[in-house]
Amino acid sequence: MEETNKKFRVPFFVPEFTEEMKNAAVNALQNEKFVMGESVYKFEEEFAKYIGTKLAVSVNSGNAALHLSLLALGINNKSSVITSTNSFIASANCILMTGAKPILCDIKPEDGNIDISSTDEKADAIIPVHIYGNPCDFNSIRRMSEESKIPIIEDACQAHGAKYFDKKVGSLGDVGCFSFYPTKNMTVGGDGGMITTNNEEIQSEVISLRDNGRKSHTTLNTVNAAIGRIQLSHLDERNSRRQKIAELYKKHLSEDYFLIENPNGSSVFHQIIFRHKKRNDIMEHLSKNGIGTAIHYPIPIHKQPLYSYLNLTLSISEEFSNQVLSLPSYPQLSDDDVKFVCETINQIL
Ligand SMILES: Cc1ncc(COP(=O)(O)O)c(C=O)c1O
Repeated sequence: MEETNKKFRVPFFVPEFTEEMKNAAVNALQNEKFVMGESVYKFEEEFAKYIGTKLAVSVNSGNAALHLSLLALGINNKSSVITSTNSFIASANCILMTGAKPILCDIKPEDGNIDISSTDEKADAIIPVHIYGNPCDFNSIRRMSEESKIPIIEDACQAHGAKYFDKKVGSLGDVGCFSFYPTKNMTVGGDGGMITTNNEEIQSEVISLRDNGRKSHTTLNTVNAAIGRIQLSHLDERNSRRQKIAELYKKHLSEDYFLIENPNGSSVFHQIIFRHKKRNDIMEHLSKNGIGTAIHYPIPIHKQPLYSYLNLTLSISEEFSNQVLSLPSYPQLSDDDVKFVCETINQIL
């Protein structure tokens, strides 16, 4: 990562590695069991408390969190599961992994989150994604879930700490799923994931599924949990910095270019999305000036080869994917870095 970042004055992403994380890692390796050490249980407890659920179960990735949650809820090859086409492909792959049929929904153009009115197919579960760290319109999801009596598995992999009204995402549905992949708002210094729930049956089922049917073991390495505990303790301050950075972008460019934050919640700006018809030119100009950007996502899930058999046209997400550009959003960015990105964009606008 450091090698790739050298050519950028403002890289798209810079991983955080602090002395505090290093000390916690060394301490865990020296004093605890490598797997299933005390840090893992403490991390689960602290994470559940932070999200506001009774229980949390650690797993080795966000994908595993989603997959095991679906299995625990009895999803199988006779089931159908709804999710959004504007997401990382794991949101749909976890459905395929159970043998169930994915029902991919189009999105709302103002925030890129799922528009459940775009399907009238019957489903056995729904996976709303809080995309880019911005909570989706959960009241409409809850209405659908109550009317159809189907469980909600929140894909909160990009939204650690985001709130809908006064509750954190991951505590709104039957199960919440988180990823600690290194680019996320918090990490564990490697791959990792977490399932949050208030339901003891689901907890017991995922504990069994994650370790060959055994009930006692965990699958997150102790060293990762120790780093995760440090990252969790700094999550709120780092999310506040992301929110400040988003404000700065809107101030120096214009609100009109940015997606709308859920008026009933608060985003943690996992990504800060700039939207423009000349996206490709802007991206190239930024790159020439030493600014890294990315596209989330260049191809909506229903257009990926794996899902072409569904033969779907979801026009809002297709137009959206041609216009979105993710700007640097990590907390270590300085105000001057943000200003420089804005000035460079303004040159070409
Ligand atoms: C929305 C979403 N869902 C699921 C995942 C899968 O998480 P992981 O990469 O930890 O398996 C990710 C991570 O990239 C994600 O962004």
